[in-house]
Amino acid sequence: MTRQSLRAALRTATEYLADSGVPSPAADAELLAAHVLNTTRTRLGLTPFLSEEQSVQFSAFVARRAKREPLQYITGIASMGEIDVAVGPGVFIPRPETELLLGWVLSYMQAHGLHTPRVVDLCSGSGALAFAIAHARPDAEVHAVERNPAALKWLEHNHVRRVRAGDPAVAIHAADVTEPQLLQDLSGTVDVIVANPPYVPLAAPVTAEVAEFEPADAVFSGVDGLGVIRPMVSVIARLLRQSGAAAIEHDDSNGAEVCGLLAASGSFTDVTQHADLAEKPRYVTAVRA
Ligand SMILES: C[S@@+](CC[C@H](N)C(=O)[O-])C[C@H]1O[C@@H](n2cnc3c(N)ncnc32)[C@H](O)[C@@H]1O
Repeated sequence: MTRQSLRAALRTATEYLADSGVPSPAADAELLAAHVLNTTRTRLGLTPFLSEEQSVQFSAFVARRAKREPLQYITGIASMGEIDVAVGPGVFIPRPETELLLGWVLSYMQAHGLHTPRVVDLCSGSGALAFAIAHARPDAEVHAVERNPAALKWLEHNHVRRVRAGDPAVAIHAADVTEPQLLQDLSGTVDVIVANPPYVPLAAPVTAEVAEFEPADAVFSGVDGLGVIRPMVSVIARLLRQSGAAAIEHDDSNGAEVCGLLAASGSFTDVTQHADLAEKPRYVTAVRA
């Protein structure tokens, strides 16, 4: 076999992925080709041919994607803010909507003139949020909390990558965020808490990518999607200093419920609902009373 035309390879791959039910077949084919060619999607036009070896690799990647393996597990990379993190089987893939949480926490720290803030990322997974915060705010003392042993391996791996890239170290805690004694030493001293916990209600329909590949305990959280958020509220209240703030991402069906949990605890003021780019309720912020 000799070199293959990239356009022809992309056409075949797009049809195959579309037939397999992949939601964005053309974009995914291009992103996989860019990965094989070690370039970006927008620069694909500069490389009209795939070598024999690249062609074989591209076909293998497309076959995996056709089985609905998430694109990011194949490329091994996902992004958050200005950084990327390594991902693969065993860890949740950071989602674009969580960029909103990142944007909020960075703006909050800026607007309140926080210097050397103490920040806790609950349910850290790959560490995308924690590392993006540490990158944007090298003066921050960032703590990342994760329970799942497989996810913790990715968190440690990404920590090594980020520190090698020049970012400050983050404190990693292997712990359960619903544990009432969590991070006891930090009680009443934390400036900001971010949390993207598992929040999908058990019976909610999810894509094949999520159902068959991502860890269930990173996605689902009890019948109502509040299994982790409910007990986490009192932990957040204990950790925050007076006037410290928290942001919690949640299922779009649970905006009012999460606001209600924070308000009912009696520990927070300024409980505020925020929508995502699709105008759906996506995260709630609150200030420690
Ligand atoms: C939706 S993922 C979010 C990961 C990451 N923060 C992000 O935005 O990409 C939720 C993470 O919480 C972890 N997790 C679930 N229950 C937990 C608990 N009780 N204590 C600590 N971590 C938990 C899961 O293992 C998973 O990594």
